[in-house]
Amino acid sequence: MNTLNEAPPIRLALESELVDGTARDNSVARFREAGIRLPTFSELRDPSTIDPEIVADLENVDRGIADPRNLYRVHWHNRWGADGIAEVPEHVVIPQELSGVDAKIVLLFGDRFPMITAHKVLAAYACLAPRIVTGTFDPTVHRAIWPSTGNYARGGVAISRIMQSHGLAVLPAGMSQERFDWLNAWTLDPASDIIRTPGTESNVKEIYDACTELSRDPNNMVINQFCEFGNYLAHRTITGPAMEKVFEHVSGGQGHLRAFVSATGSAGTIAAGDHLKDRFGAEIMAAEAMQCPTMLENGFGEHNIQGIGDKHIPLIHNVFNTDVVASISDQVTNQLDVLFQSPVGRAYLIDNIGLDPELVSSLQHMGYSSWCNMVSAIAYANLRGLGPDDVVMTVATDGSAMYDSGRQPIIDSDFGGEFTTADAESTFVAHLGDPSVHTMLDLDDRERRRIFNLGYFTWVEQLDLDVDTFVARRDQAWWDDLVPKVDAWDELIVDFNQRTGLG
Ligand SMILES: Cc1ncc(COP(=O)(O)O)c(C=O)c1O
Repeated sequence: MNTLNEAPPIRLALESELVDGTARDNSVARFREAGIRLPTFSELRDPSTIDPEIVADLENVDRGIADPRNLYRVHWHNRWGADGIAEVPEHVVIPQELSGVDAKIVLLFGDRFPMITAHKVLAAYACLAPRIVTGTFDPTVHRAIWPSTGNYARGGVAISRIMQSHGLAVLPAGMSQERFDWLNAWTLDPASDIIRTPGTESNVKEIYDACTELSRDPNNMVINQFCEFGNYLAHRTITGPAMEKVFEHVSGGQGHLRAFVSATGSAGTIAAGDHLKDRFGAEIMAAEAMQCPTMLENGFGEHNIQGIGDKHIPLIHNVFNTDVVASISDQVTNQLDVLFQSPVGRAYLIDNIGLDPELVSSLQHMGYSSWCNMVSAIAYANLRGLGPDDVVMTVATDGSAMYDSGRQPIIDSDFGGEFTTADAESTFVAHLGDPSVHTMLDLDDRERRRIFNLGYFTWVEQLDLDVDTFVARRDQAWWDDLVPKVDAWDELIVDFNQRTGLG
């Protein structure tokens, strides 16, 4: 027990064999009754391998509802507004008129994921499913506690609900109204299942405090995305290959995949970079908010790039595999949202910049952190002087719909209540005119050590992780050795489905 805050020591959910047969059998009984079949990691990596009957049946299922069949949509190959499996994950290639660089900047759209229109539902599934099949989570006993600054908590509540397991969301009170509206509709009892902690985006310490309090009850299982290796493994083994497919598609076998860029919250998504570095030698760039420069200078602060930048270094961040850090102001992301989502801004982009109206419309699928990723990717391409055969890949975690209520307040505070064509022009020039304005840091071994060591204070000092595990994460072989767990989980999932009679 940690004497500082009496938190129970961290438990890494890395079991990959059956731990508790009784708990597993309780899940089997419940899942059989509710008709819940679990997809394997391998099916989510390559949905063309999903039983065609299951895929056909999905045509009868609204992707926004609590139906267990929607588990078979927890992958990158959904189509926007259409059924079926997209051979290549849906994405956008940012044209040179917009990026100002020759390299191809490519974003995969996360809002194709079901239920929460953000890819964090994949991380939530990857954390709960292994617990169910190893019997470390018993839905007849446990409650799943999902701490996050928003989308992962929503993903967790959705996954819990369709897996007949009670879920609670713990998130800062200052997150977007859209997130709370969603949680009100999805939690079993909003009054007790939504726990609002003080602060906004970067107040993760307050979330941890609430989790410490909740974990005094042994029936509450905190599924903390910041130290859940299911989150890391899902992105390394599912998001990574999805990126690879899109890269092959856009480059036609000719280009070079130079980097994977991800603004880090839990640092789950950035694990796709570990796959892409293995396959193509791509560099890995982590982005954070300039107002909260934790990786850049061990700094802290408030910002509005919802979903990222949490004043600490997540345990699942493979820091020694990260090559560059970028720092992007939330003024950039706030104002690009207004530029691309307001009628005046869109007219400017089409009429004055000459952007294709279809492209402008497709950028409705970009939320704040998506703009952060895009601007960081452009800054990276500029930093390395990349050319037309080079590709930089990143992700649009969620879409603008998640931030509609925030737009007018930004127009009021930043543009005097009205966003004019002159504002559109100055916004475009300020935030897309010169990619060299963003601060970036090339990480050498010393800088990597500085960032890595910062994690010590959270994970070892405050949360009681054993120091050997903490230190072992310096070694890339430690991370590579995690990957076979996914196959072991898949075997348990197949066995589980057979036991429910749905396999
Ligand atoms: C909108 C948004 N962007 C980015 C992220 C960061 O992703 P990750 O936690 O995988 O680092 C999150 C995480 O919740 C998010 O909700």
